[in-house]
Amino acid sequence: MLIDTHSHIYLEQFDNDLDRVIKNAVEVGVEKIILPNINFDSIIKMQAVKLAYPLITELAIGLHPTSVNYNYKKSLNLIYNGFDIAEYVAIGEVGIDLYWDKTFIEQQKDAFDYQIELAKLYNIPIIIHSRNSFDDIIDVLKPHVSSGVKGVFHCFPGNSKQAKLVIDMGFYVGIGGILTYKNSNMPEVVENIPLEYILLETDAPYLSPVPKRGQRNEPAYVKYVAEMIARITATSYESVCKITRDNAKQVFAL
Ligand code: NI
Repeated sequence: MLIDTHSHIYLEQFDNDLDRVIKNAVEVGVEKIILPNINFDSIIKMQAVKLAYPLITELAIGLHPTSVNYNYKKSLNLIYNGFDIAEYVAIGEVGIDLYWDKTFIEQQKDAFDYQIELAKLYNIPIIIHSRNSFDDIIDVLKPHVSSGVKGVFHCFPGNSKQAKLVIDMGFYVGIGGILTYKNSNMPEVVENIPLEYILLETDAPYLSPVPKRGQRNEPAYVKYVAEMIARITATSYESVCKITRDNAKQVFAL
């Protein structure tokens, strides 16, 4: 059994064949797919997928850092006053993204901080999106760690040392298709941290693992990530599936 802890199967890339995509996932043993949110509009799309596939999907709610702009307070208000946080397994995805644009760095930090507070209030984990922003993320997150906030660094963006820092803060390391790419430093990261701190993810439709690289990603391809982790750590495929599944069940209270 596998859990894909990060999948955007509510996006338009899946409009024509989501049934097939869900079947493919079930066939390879995917038991749960967690859908992280992007902005106000995507919540409606996620909820439609949850209605159609209630047993295999779980939803997170949040404002993605690339959707943070001058109006971010209004966006946060629309999201968190428009929906019942108690119906979601996590706050996400939230964080800081300085890859495309640094214009709203202060707004991104403030939105991230606010959403960490909400996670604490509702006692649910956070799904962190970090891109070119690892130190900024740690700066915002660190003051909250002693109050018990937990979660995952999705599509983990760092090195082994940073992975250890994340683990010491009580967070999980999200590993996806990048692990299978040539010149990726993720194999070294995976070698250096215990499997007990790893969550599997696809980030579908993006970042498809080898041998599907370049194609649309989908939850079934999480098996390629598990296979690669098994190879790197000289662990059985079954153990990788079981341990990472237990990790996901624990952090998201599934
Ligand atoms: Ni994502």
